[in-house]
Amino acid sequence: MLNFDFYNPTRVAFGEGTIARLDELVPADARVLVLYGGGSAERNGTLAEVEAALGQRSVQRFGGIEPNPSYETLMKAVEQIRREGLDFLLAVGGGSVIDGTKFVAAAVGHAGDPWEILQTRGKSVSSALPLGCVLTLPATGSEMNCASVVTRRSLNAKIGFFSRHVFPRFSVLDPVKTYTLPPRQIANGVVDAFVHVAEQYLTYPVNAAVQDRYAESLLQTLIEVGPQALATPQDYDVRANLMWAATQALSGPVGAGVPQDWATHMIGHEITALHGLDHAQTLAIVLPALLAERRAPKRAKLLQYAARVWNIRDGDEDARIDAAIARTREFFESLGVRTRLSDYGIGAEALDALVAQLEAHGMTAIGEHRDLDLATSRRILEACL
Ligand code: NZQ
Ligand code: ZN
Repeated sequence: MLNFDFYNPTRVAFGEGTIARLDELVPADARVLVLYGGGSAERNGTLAEVEAALGQRSVQRFGGIEPNPSYETLMKAVEQIRREGLDFLLAVGGGSVIDGTKFVAAAVGHAGDPWEILQTRGKSVSSALPLGCVLTLPATGSEMNCASVVTRRSLNAKIGFFSRHVFPRFSVLDPVKTYTLPPRQIANGVVDAFVHVAEQYLTYPVNAAVQDRYAESLLQTLIEVGPQALATPQDYDVRANLMWAATQALSGPVGAGVPQDWATHMIGHEITALHGLDHAQTLAIVLPALLAERRAPKRAKLLQYAARVWNIRDGDEDARIDAAIARTREFFESLGVRTRLSDYGIGAEALDALVAQLEAHGMTAIGEHRDLDLATSRRILEACL
């Protein structure tokens, strides 16, 4: 029986030219810190457009937030905010910049060691500076959710936290700002969004007709527009549909009140932490292997997925499930995202350390039934080789 609490306070300004709306979205008396990444927003003019829209407000910059944002870098932004008395954060970038900004927002006023925010997965967050986003990379959904993933390089730890306090106040989504993305990042975004939906959908049936059909429509949209975004990179309609699909994939409606299985993400985070693969590359590797390993508990939804998403309706049940998993893998590969650890030079010798990382981070009973233990994670990783 469905029973849930749905909350999402993020206002979205979507469309070409919407950066100009910052003037109305950011409080007039705000002392703003604009946070960005390694320079793409500077090179392609997005940053200048943002600063023009902020007009006469007091504005400072903080650049250099890395992909898989590091605790060490983010703490420098925390120092700048405290030193300069800034009171509004504006993230300009992809998931890493937005996640990093969420952590900074929570850390500025945190009494005690800010690492506690990650250690408690956000439970220790009681307030945060207000933040807004200008999204340049459709992928994570961070622009409309309250999650953040931060890496502490010195500990090889990539950990997520959640807090209602870090929901963006608003997000500006201008598809034109994604035109400069390299193919690798476009493909990564499609895979990440696809896996977000899959992890909220491929569990077991709970009669959530709306959530199921919404998940299926997002998956079908991604299957359609993903290749188009690579083939015709300056097509506004394609980029707009991709951007909204990625945002919706992880902003709440698909997962409202349904069982969720974040095991692919948890295993993937350890691969990034130890081997530096892009987030989406890890997901493309793990998801097909995980679905094959977990075909028994996921059987009914895998059959539904096969029929409704891939139109696979003939043959015996196991053959349909095999075909759906194969189509999933082919889809990722068709986008140019390789799906085997060996494609990235990682062999069997790496598995002990990956399993030890899962154990160190408490990932010993994951999945929708909390029964995916370390032995199962190892079997999944072996199937990823
Ligand atoms: O750093 P710059 O120079 O800006 O370049 C970035 C970066 O190198 C580049 N880029 C972004 N927009 C661009 C652009 N290049 C050209 N033109 C543009 N318009 O793309 C590269 C990757 O950026 P990044 O932000 O790292 O990618 P993504 O959006 O995929 O974010 C990945 C991070 O988000 C976390 C991941 O773990 C990873 O750390 N996730 C966050 C989630 C959340 N908050 O809900 C959920 C996800 O599952 C995910 O875990
Ligand atoms: Zn993800």
